[in-house]
Amino acid sequence: MKKYICAKCRTVSIIPHDHGQKSENLTAEIDDTVILAAHKKIDSERRQAGTYGLVGGLDHVIINTEQSKHMSAIGELMNTTGLRLADAFEDESRNVAILTTDNSANFMVTARTDGINPFLAFNQAPKSAHLPNTRLETLVFSSPGLEKYVAIQKNRGVRFMTDEIIERRNCLFIQTVPSLFTGNSIGFIQWTGKEGNYRPQKSRSLEIEAHKPPSQYLDQIQYLDHIATRVEAKLRDRAIIEFMELTNYSFDFAIYIKKLNSITSVARLTKADFALVFTSGISKNIQEEYIGPTEMYVRNYGARVHHMAFHTEDIDNVFHTLKAGGVEFLSDLVGSPEEGLKQAFTKGSNNTLLVNEYIHRFGDFDGFFTKSNVETLTKATEKQ
Ligand SMILES: [Fe+2]
Repeated sequence: MKKYICAKCRTVSIIPHDHGQKSENLTAEIDDTVILAAHKKIDSERRQAGTYGLVGGLDHVIINTEQSKHMSAIGELMNTTGLRLADAFEDESRNVAILTTDNSANFMVTARTDGINPFLAFNQAPKSAHLPNTRLETLVFSSPGLEKYVAIQKNRGVRFMTDEIIERRNCLFIQTVPSLFTGNSIGFIQWTGKEGNYRPQKSRSLEIEAHKPPSQYLDQIQYLDHIATRVEAKLRDRAIIEFMELTNYSFDFAIYIKKLNSITSVARLTKADFALVFTSGISKNIQEEYIGPTEMYVRNYGARVHHMAFHTEDIDNVFHTLKAGGVEFLSDLVGSPEEGLKQAFTKGSNNTLLVNEYIHRFGDFDGFFTKSNVETLTKATEKQ
């Protein structure tokens, strides 16, 4: 039976009703038509409003943990990636560690010590509710003209977490309220002083118990290549369009794995930049179809970032050394030099719920992903 959702009042019904906007067919399988049409419109809006040039690439991500797991999350990241501790401080409402590696977005690992968690409502799914403060919450993009950018977006109706831009010692910062489609917030930072110093006006240095092990193979795990966020099939188009409306990213391509009811959609700024991947089901009507690992993950964990992918040199050695050291994997190392790509997924972390992906593209491989790897890795996430 066909079902429609009214674009205005959000009522689901068998017969589409018209409240001035066309009802959306919920039953249909997804394709890229809506996103491609939106992309054209957004491109012209960006030119008109002048937002090209006001938002750049990814500066850092913010991962929040439970207070009790903050140190172990920092230690785990240092033990399983090339990230090193660059700074740690406490401010009025949170403990913060900054982890960095060359040519990469930075990682801000936080634990709230005071105040309300605005992401709490998004962390209540069956397999995530035991860690109600745990999520990769925010992707923060650089902005060379934050004041102008915020004025334009406020005019469009975008809601930010604070009324005003926050002034820190070396930067200006603001972030959106969590997206109703992804549960993620998008942040913006304009550097006014020493780049990479995220301290607010008032802060105290924080002692971090974790230490970076002196292991050569960890240096082979390098920059953040992409992040994949999982969303409900019916919200996939809106999640990608919302992200394009907030940044200068464009929808690049999507890989459909019909037998797993899964789409992997890639948004990019340039080929050299960090990419944001959206993974969703294909069918909007999951009651009547095979759910598959992607839609099942969203049901179990809620819409959220599923994995962080790190570019990895000498990936065979890294994979086997991590495994021998006790890191558990959802998948084997998949792909080959002939196919142009090798990747592996760790199990989700008990500290952050996040999966690490290690990825190596061989030679002049230009395809970003291969369909066979996407299929094998998606299948591996059934175990979650
Ligand atoms: Fe990935």
